[in-house]
Parts: sequence; C-alpha cells; structure tokens
Amino acid sequence: MRKSGKTRHQNTKVRSENVKILISGRRIQRRIQALARQIRKDFPGEPLHLVSVLKGGVFFLTDLARSISGEVSFDFIAVSSYGQDTRSSGQVRLTRDLDSSIEGKTVIVVEDILDTGMTLQYLLRLFQQRKPKHLRVAVLLDKPERRITAVHADYVGFTIPNEFVVGYGLDYSERYRNLSFVGVLTLGPASGKKTSEA
Ligand code: IMP
Ligand code: MG
Repeated sequence: MRKSGKTRHQNTKVRSENVKILISGRRIQRRIQALARQIRKDFPGEPLHLVSVLKGGVFFLTDLARSISGEVSFDFIAVSSYGQDTRSSGQVRLTRDLDSSIEGKTVIVVEDILDTGMTLQYLLRLFQQRKPKHLRVAVLLDKPERRITAVHADYVGFTIPNEFVVGYGLDYSERYRNLSFVGVLTLGPASGKKTSEA
C-alpha cells in the first residue's frame, strides 16, 4: 500500500512525500497482545502504572493498556526532542510533567520508538529519582543502529532498520500520526518551485 502527496509551506520548495507500509495494523495489534501478556506475566497481580510520552506513544499506550489484564492506571509526560525535521536535535526538554507521583509504583514507560535513546535516558533518570518500586520500558519500535546511549528497553514490539517511520503515533511535522500502520517515509527531491499556498 502506498500513500503519496505533496507538502506545501509558504515560500518553501515543494517535496513529494511517500509512505510505504512497513508493519501492518494487524501485526501491530497482534504484537501488542503478546507484549501485554508478557508484562502481566512478569508482574502477576500487581497494579501497573503506564506512563506514556506524548504524543507519539499515545496509541501504543491505549492499545497496550486495554490488553493488560488486572489493575492498570496511566499518566502522560511530554518532552520535545525533535524539531520539524527527520533528524534529532539531540536535546531533550520536559514540556509537561506527570499528574501524579510514581513513588512506590510499578511503572512502565511506554514510548513509540527507541532511536538514539536520548529521550528515554533523560526520562529514566528523572523517574528513577522519584523512587518507583519498579521501572520498566516498553517501546513499540526499536532502531538499534541509531543508538548513542546505553538505554535498553525491556519490551520491544518490533526491531526496525534505520529508516524514518511514520504512523501509529509517529509523525513527520505533526502529520501521519493517525495511520493505523507504521510506514517508511521518503521525501522526494525538492521541485524547485516556490508556492504561495500555505
Ligand atoms: P530518541 O531520543 O532519539 O531515542 O528519539 C525518540 C523520539 O524521537 C521518539 O519518541 C520520536 O518522537 C522521535 N523519532 C525517532 N525516530 C523517529 C522516526 O523514525 N519517525 C518519527 N519520529 C521519530
Ligand atoms: Mg515521541
């Protein structure tokens, strides 16, 4: 399945965008069921507190939370690490903190993708200081080739090659998050035309 379109920004060049399916929605859902069973098996009978990173981790959190049996609560945090581009700025900044304390809780950080590891390294340091009972990491996607930190995920949905992906929460300039699948985004060459359309 291919989706393509053009992106227009005022006074910028037009580049075609192409999204090629990498992981279907069905495969994502099946894998999440398996991860949910694994997580529950690792912490039988324990209340689990899922902490998701806005906005990319939201669909993964909602599907995972509904698949884990027993007591589950969740909360959200937001950080910014990427700009409007497909490359990391390398800097992580907290833009929204959790609503409630995680002290004494069994916390699972739920992230869309583990890329360089900068975001998770920052979050794990922050959360560790708040004295959770257990702290674990679940990521839907892992891009090990890009890692520049020693961060490790306890639960990984899919290990993927070093490609820029969108869909199922992941964005390119805030677009494509709503795709039910994960696809590889490729940008065509700039056409050289300038457009006045916003
Ligand atoms: P890290 O800090 O480099 O590990 O990057 C983590 C964050 O970067 C993720 O939560 C995503 O928001 C974003 N990111 C990394 N790789 C991709 C990608 O391939 N597509 C879209 N966003 C990405
Ligand atoms: Mg993200």
